[in-house]
Amino acid sequence: MTSDILTSVENRVLTITFNRTDKKNAITAAMYAAMADAMADANDNDAIRAIMFTANGDAFTAGNDLIDFRDNPPLTDDAPVSRFLRELVVAKKPLIAAVNGIAVGVGFTMLLHCDIVYLSEAAQLQAPFVDLALVPEAASSLLLPARIGHAQAAEIFMLGKRVNAEDAKTIGVASDVFAPDALLVAATKAAVALSKKAPAALQATKRLMRGDKDVISARMVEESKLFGQQLLSPELGEAVMAFMQKREPNFG
Ligand code: COA
Repeated sequence: MTSDILTSVENRVLTITFNRTDKKNAITAAMYAAMADAMADANDNDAIRAIMFTANGDAFTAGNDLIDFRDNPPLTDDAPVSRFLRELVVAKKPLIAAVNGIAVGVGFTMLLHCDIVYLSEAAQLQAPFVDLALVPEAASSLLLPARIGHAQAAEIFMLGKRVNAEDAKTIGVASDVFAPDALLVAATKAAVALSKKAPAALQATKRLMRGDKDVISARMVEESKLFGQQLLSPELGEAVMAFMQKREPNFG
């Protein structure tokens, strides 16, 4: 059990809240495990009709905890991060995200699996995998170019470009943008509205819209192989060291 992830159920909506505010909600293995467990339970629980992700503090999440990554590289299929990513793919219930601040790495790529993505005006999305000597995960190397085109996706993945909230909506990564104090109200309203829809029709619609689950899962497997290789690379060591020393990495 970790208090860095909070879960609650109200109005048949499971809310999963990032709660590691002193570290910008960077996600540890324990946090992935807590989210994967909550999502697996919800998937087979008829009393839960929608799942909402949100966060305490000023960040949505700074993505994977980089130190956890270096010290405990998740190299096996049953690693908590892999379990969490699989739950995103097999989720039957609609996923809603209320993104209050910066969303980095998996904080961004998980949004590609969400059905309704509401951003605060303060939200910024960033996927600096290459800057960290990593490769995209969560099937984002497939989903993001398919959603926004190769040229826009390359700026995000290869240059590590940050996307602000309005631009995220324009390119089709977000559903809508709200003033910070209106975000959670809007997201909760959408989640509760979804929880009242005909569940079979809603879940079938999600399934149809998402495309071929096997193709998405196969890309995740391919990505995680390369991701695992990079995790063990000297490049990654230099990137994490540079982050800890608050300096630019030098990849030679
Ligand atoms: N892993 C581990 N710790 C992290 C982290 C991460 N991904 N992101 C932030 N933190 C920690 C910082 O080390 C700092 O800890 P400290 O107070 O003990 O020094 C604390 O969270 C606050 O972060 P800080 O960098 O001071 O906040 P900021 O507002 O200046 O910047 C970010 C916020 C998110 C832009 C910046 O922290 C960042 O770039 N983080 C790394 C993001 C990343 O690369 N994620 C991995 C993607 S795969």
